[in-house]
Amino acid sequence: MVKEIIRIPTKDAELIFGITDEGKFTQLHFGKKIVEKISCDETNCLEPFEYYPMNGRGNFNQPAVDIVFPDGSSIGDFRYVSHKTVRDKPMINGLPTSRGDKDQTINIVLKEKIHDVYLKIFVTAYKEENIFSQSIQIVNRMDDPVVIERALSLHLSLPDNDYDLLTLTGSWGREVQDEWARLRRGIQGVDSKQGITGHGQNPFIALRKASIAHCLDEVYGFNLIYSGDFLSQVEVDAQDHTFIQTGLNGAHFSWYLEPDQVFSTPEAIFSYSANGLQQLSQQFHQFIEKFILPETFSKKVRPILLNNWEATYFDFTREKILDLAKVSAELGIEMLVLDDGWFGQRADDTSSLGDWQPNEAKLGGTLQSLISEIESMGIDFGLWIELEMVSKNSALYNEHPEWVIASPYREAVEIRHQYMLDLSQECVQDHLIQTISQLLANHAIKYMKWDMNRSMTDRFSQGLSTLQQRELGHRYVLGLYRVFSEITQAFPDVLFEGCCSGGGRFDLGILSYMPQIWASDNTDAIDRLRIQSNLAIAYPPSTISCHVSAVPNHQTNRYTSLDTRVNVASFGTLGYELDVTQLTLAERTEVRKQIERYKKHKEVYQFGCHFQLKPFFDQQQVAWQKLSKDGKTVIVTITNRLGRIQSTNRLLKLVELDPQAIYQVGNRQYSGSFLMIKGLPIGTVSRDFASDSFILSKVDE
Ligand code: GLA
Repeated sequence: MVKEIIRIPTKDAELIFGITDEGKFTQLHFGKKIVEKISCDETNCLEPFEYYPMNGRGNFNQPAVDIVFPDGSSIGDFRYVSHKTVRDKPMINGLPTSRGDKDQTINIVLKEKIHDVYLKIFVTAYKEENIFSQSIQIVNRMDDPVVIERALSLHLSLPDNDYDLLTLTGSWGREVQDEWARLRRGIQGVDSKQGITGHGQNPFIALRKASIAHCLDEVYGFNLIYSGDFLSQVEVDAQDHTFIQTGLNGAHFSWYLEPDQVFSTPEAIFSYSANGLQQLSQQFHQFIEKFILPETFSKKVRPILLNNWEATYFDFTREKILDLAKVSAELGIEMLVLDDGWFGQRADDTSSLGDWQPNEAKLGGTLQSLISEIESMGIDFGLWIELEMVSKNSALYNEHPEWVIASPYREAVEIRHQYMLDLSQECVQDHLIQTISQLLANHAIKYMKWDMNRSMTDRFSQGLSTLQQRELGHRYVLGLYRVFSEITQAFPDVLFEGCCSGGGRFDLGILSYMPQIWASDNTDAIDRLRIQSNLAIAYPPSTISCHVSAVPNHQTNRYTSLDTRVNVASFGTLGYELDVTQLTLAERTEVRKQIERYKKHKEVYQFGCHFQLKPFFDQQQVAWQKLSKDGKTVIVTITNRLGRIQSTNRLLKLVELDPQAIYQVGNRQYSGSFLMIKGLPIGTVSRDFASDSFILSKVDE
């Protein structure tokens, strides 16, 4: 029997807990807000699901937590001790967390029935955004250590199993492909055991109610603020219940918790919408921009940059970089980013990671002299770095082989001729902080592309004891976050862009320090349609870095028009990544116009409300709508994958406009209600890969 209930509402959603008379802490509801008071009869017909179960006492599903106690057993039975509302949301030690608001955080304390081990559960409700966050602390109050084998951030239950599961999976160059699958009995979901989030599976998942009842289009979304091994999974049991879990992946993990020590999990973020995926995405976008992105950049428009990677790869000279900068400045580009190859002896990917001294012979002088010359053209300078790595062929490796993640008894696996530095060691973290601080303090660098190009193998650290070796993956991420947090605090005005061979680490952990991420090494406009649309299910467009590149495209060999390329790259933060000195005069004029237009509406492109107008599974066309925060500007982009013969539908329905208002597009005017009920005339965008874009302005009454 439930003797007490705790309700945690947001504007439209609600999480309800129940404490049973046996002291079990249970979840009674997660979903649409039940506005009224709940009666005893109603409470009694809700199924109470143990909120954070362990195994050994009747729970035969995946446990939320698994601890080996000093007696060798891992039978667990956590009971309610207390709960209170705290005004200030606590920070999680060593891990990024969404900023608190005036909203309430509930701190619930549970204790294992016979062992002095406590669980502290922190749940915050962000009312306006309909978002909940949760993290867990495990506290060892015993006289001996315990070993944590599994410690998830979230274990939520739904009383039925009638859902479709959305996962975003893929590979290098083909990140975040959407897949919907009806839930089946057993365990399903996504994870990473690569030490990084990985290209294969993004931690974001969503569940959508399959049979739409009472006109509700119910969707639940889940994500994690973390950048290492994770799992986001769903289990359906024999009684048709659904359990959603997100958190650290237990595959390479265990944690030795000494007496009086605390272990904190990463923070899980979850949300509910009764109005479909579109609204769920809006909720995540608003929340991430407001509470996760670094405050300096969360609302700041980002520069249009030119990155030299696809223009020159490793093969550049000072003259070439200056030529690129000169043409960029003429075109209206605001920053020149120097990518890989500026340091040590790096002429290809076989050497020099770790040796971060500028190669003055190649740069034709000091790095600062190059920057000054670029700045004199009126544009800023940005730099690429891959600080977490070391090449075997480098001075750093010769000096500190013990800084590499590798077992002394085996030859470590090389990926792209490089090893991962062991960021679990404090001296390695200090070295990285010092290296980057010197670079930033001594050079006028306004932007840094923080790359990382391999997964973790050979998990062994010379800095950890025998008992701690399985802590390496998590300790690496904690070390990485310490580096990020020190440098972003010391240099708050430097814009960092995350990168991991493209989108291999597109997650909320990185976004807590770096407000934008390179979405994919695949710059082909047609492939980018799906990658960018799908990223925007979970992440705001301002965080998605998109570049116009050359044709034929370097990854797919495809030809697309300059129009199509810029329309697609204007989806989020726009950049160019091609040899602009090779553009014809006509192309330069066109690019100049594109840039002028993007600059004029930068705020809307980057921070406007983003809507996917065509269903996600539409194979033929992709259409996006951006709506400025003040509702006065609407940008609509429609792009063909393949043309379609005899297709005569020339109207595209828009959303969320003011029905009474008049909108001007070119020299035509339409009412908001016409645009939403009938649609915007889009002509015939019929050719393969063709694209068009429309800017609508609300006419003042
Ligand atoms: C990775 C990045 C690219 C580029 C190269 C440089 O692959 O994703 O954008 O920076 O490294 O080596």
